[in-house]
This record gives sequence, structure tokens and C-alpha cells, in this order.
Amino acid sequence: MHAIEILGLEKTYRVGFWRKRPKQALRPLFLTVEEGQIFGFLGPNGAGKTTTLKLLMGLVFPSAGTARILGMELDDRRMKAQIGFLPEQPYFYDHLTARELLRYFGQLSGVEARQLGRRVDRVLERVGLQEAGGVELRKFSKGMLQRVGIAQAILHEPRVVFLDEPMSGLDPMGRFEVRSLIEELKSEGKTVFFSTHILSDAEALCDRVAVLHLGELRGVAAVEELAAGMQAKVEIVWQGNSVPAAVQALGIDCRTAGDTMRAVLPEEHQDFVLEALIREHLRVISLTPVRMSLEDYFVAQLGEPVSTGKGDSAFGQPLRSIPEPASDSEPVGRARL
Ligand SMILES: Nc1ncnc2c1ncn2[C@@H]1O[C@H](COP(=O)(O)OP(=O)(O)OP(=O)(O)O)[C@@H](O)[C@H]1O
Ligand SMILES: [Mg+2]
Repeated sequence: MHAIEILGLEKTYRVGFWRKRPKQALRPLFLTVEEGQIFGFLGPNGAGKTTTLKLLMGLVFPSAGTARILGMELDDRRMKAQIGFLPEQPYFYDHLTARELLRYFGQLSGVEARQLGRRVDRVLERVGLQEAGGVELRKFSKGMLQRVGIAQAILHEPRVVFLDEPMSGLDPMGRFEVRSLIEELKSEGKTVFFSTHILSDAEALCDRVAVLHLGELRGVAAVEELAAGMQAKVEIVWQGNSVPAAVQALGIDCRTAGDTMRAVLPEEHQDFVLEALIREHLRVISLTPVRMSLEDYFVAQLGEPVSTGKGDSAFGQPLRSIPEPASDSEPVGRARL
């Protein structure tokens, strides 16, 4: 069973004075997430990530389309008991302690009274706040509040966890801890769907990612598959600081580093450049394939215009689509800080 199935969800807000002007925050979105996966939802500011999460949480209503979580409709109360959600900017009542707030959320999400104290202690420990359970939230730093937000999202042991920018406001150590926590949730068989701007976190953690831009899906695949779709490049380093005229003529960007030159070029030019260097008696120090990163993919995708799909010429040409791979595709290799 799919953990999440998004079937053409679409959202148009009405904006401006009299709310007359339509603003399409999310174009019809089709996406599936398998159970037990970590799925990264990426996009720049205003891409529609929060809108999608709000639609899935039933906090705003779609203009069209539907979605299912764990095979159930979005208004199904049985489904809601099995999901957890960290909003983008969680707001909590300042004068409660972390423990009081979590007890309150635990009661709301139906955690048994007998288990509540133990669950709250365990979740505080999981998010690294065991020492701060008795402290009022108004004394918490932004990073600590973010951890409380994550704690309330996982307190009732949901099967699917939705996190909107879980690393936001965290220092590198805090990010590392949240990454570890997300990996732990996966090892317990849970599905994690999180939005982020921090591409390295997505690259390190996710089985699959989707890239959204201006409300439109630009690609969805395992990180390695996305990068594989891009032009292969190599890095050549040679001694000295001269660049053969033939290489200059290719328009390749060559940079000096100490007494060496470094150029990154499409693989198809590799032999030509090597021959030019040898002809000029320049000593080649290294030749290395360049691994394309999610960041390279992201930049390449965002450089392209977006189609509205509705004949609206303002957005230019159609996008390059990346087919969704079969669900048994290889997961992305895991890396840790
Ligand atoms: N309630 C609203 N009324 C009108 N427009 C909205 C509303 N909420 C979002 N939008 C618009 O919809 C678009 C998508 O917003 P959304 O918050 O989903 O983006 P995002 O990808 O979460 O961005 P960020 O990375 O900044 O959080 C934006 O252009 C935003 O201005
Ligand atoms: Mg957002």
C-alpha cells in the first residue's frame, strides 16, 4: 500500500482587494510515497510545499483533486490518528512547560492516560530535551521550540510523519540530531515526508525526493537518478597557469589554484582537452569524474521556465518532465555528518 497518494491536488488562492485575483499556489500534483520511505519535498520559497502539506493535513481545502494517506481519505479520523505533523512555524502557548504541552497533545491524540507520562519522557529524550521538560516554553530558544514541535508530531507514534522544514532554525548539531531522529523513525518502519531548503540534508537522508517550483512538480526520483539524468562532467587539473588556445576556444571556465589550473568540463570534451594539454607539454595532475549533486539538479531545474499547462504564455515553454521510476528503484546511499 502507498503511504501517501496525491491525486491531482490543486490549490488556487484568491488574493488582492476583493480577493478577485486568482493565485495558483499548487498546480495539479500527482505523487506517491511508499510506506517506510523517507521522502524529501524540495523547492525554493513560494514553491507550494507548505500549501501541499496543509492540503494533506486538511487545514486548507483543495480547489480540485484529492489524496489518500494510508489508503484513507483526508477527512478520515482513523487516518488522522496515525499521522503526525510539524507545522512550518509552530506556535505554542508560552506559559506551559514542554512536559505540560506534550501531555496536552498526547491527550488530544488519544494516548492512554496510563502511558502518557512514560511516552512524554521518552519523546523528550528522543528530541534531546530531557533536561528541559519542566521549563516554560517562553524560555526556549528557536531550536528548542522546533524540537518540541517534532516531539508533538511523533508522541503518539504515528505511522506517517509530516514535517514542514524540520531543520529550520537548528544549528549544525541540532540538524544532525534531527537527521538521526528521522533515520530512526525509518528504521522503525515509519514513513517520513519532509519539506526542506537544505539540499544536503535531503541528499543524505531521502530515499526519494520531489522538486517543486512555482507550484509545479519539476522532478521526482531517487537523488542519484535525478543526478544521473544530467550531463556527465569531469574535472581536469594541470600544472602551470596557462590555458591552451584550443581549450579557451571551447569557452570552458578555467581557474587558477596556486600553481595549478582547474577546469570542469562536459565529459564529451575530455579527450580533446587532454590532447591539447599534452600538445603544449602541460603536465596533467588529475582527471576526476564530477559527481552531480542534488544541488546541481536543483539549480538546473529552477533555471527553466515553468508551463502553466493552461495556455498562459506568461510562464513560457513546457517543462522537462522526469518520469516517476518504479517503486522498487534503488534508494539513495545514506551519508552522515
Ligand atoms: N493563504 C494564502 N493566500 C494567498 N496566497 C497564499 C496563501 N498561502 C500561500 N500563498 C501563496 O502560495 C504560494 C506557495 O506558498 P507556500 O507557502 O506553499 O510555499 P513554500 O514552498 O512553503 O515556501 P517557503 O519555502 O517560503 O515556506 C506562494 O506564492 C504564497 O505566496
Ligand atoms: Mg513553506
